[in-house]
Amino acid sequence: MQWLKIISFGYLLGSIPFGLIIGRLYGKDVRKFGSKNIGFTNVWRVIGLVPALLVLTLDALKGYLSVYYGYQIGGELFAIVGAIASVCGHMFPLYLKFKGGKGVATALGVIIFLSPKVTLFAVIIWLVVTFITRYVSLASILAAIFVPFGMYFLQKPLVYVIFAIIGSISIVFKHSENIKKLINRTENKIGSKISISK
Ligand code: G3P
Repeated sequence: MQWLKIISFGYLLGSIPFGLIIGRLYGKDVRKFGSKNIGFTNVWRVIGLVPALLVLTLDALKGYLSVYYGYQIGGELFAIVGAIASVCGHMFPLYLKFKGGKGVATALGVIIFLSPKVTLFAVIIWLVVTFITRYVSLASILAAIFVPFGMYFLQKPLVYVIFAIIGSISIVFKHSENIKKLINRTENKIGSKISISK
């Protein structure tokens, strides 16, 4: 029954909507503004960089702690059970009628634990693409696509590679609205004024 403990821990922790909570502390429901997402990017867009960094840290911590807990109990396989549970919790939170975020920050916390080296390259990709294009969604999609390749080429355990493939596909899928907007050239650029409007 150890796996059940890991799943409940990861899912319930992953479900905590820090973007919404911190947004409310600043007097704004981020689900009503910008992209309406509860993630770091929309908190940045709607409220500011400092609260957004706090959301990023807390959302990443959900992934890190879940994977750490799983690993302590049963090694690599259980670590991945914790990883999947926390990312699912963030994407489909119990407390928000299963309408959650896109999973990027929580997955970041997971990969920090699984492979700091892969994380470093993914973060560099994210920063470079965000800096050049100012499309955070594009940066997240490209960084997510890189992760399974990074895990594979750095010869990480097969379960890590499989997690990275599933996680990457889920993150891209969660960005389908962003992808449509990127194609139509209507996606919000970070830092642009219109992006703050409803
Ligand atoms: O991590 C989410 C980011 O990639 C996109 O966020 O608010 O622009 O949909 P947003």
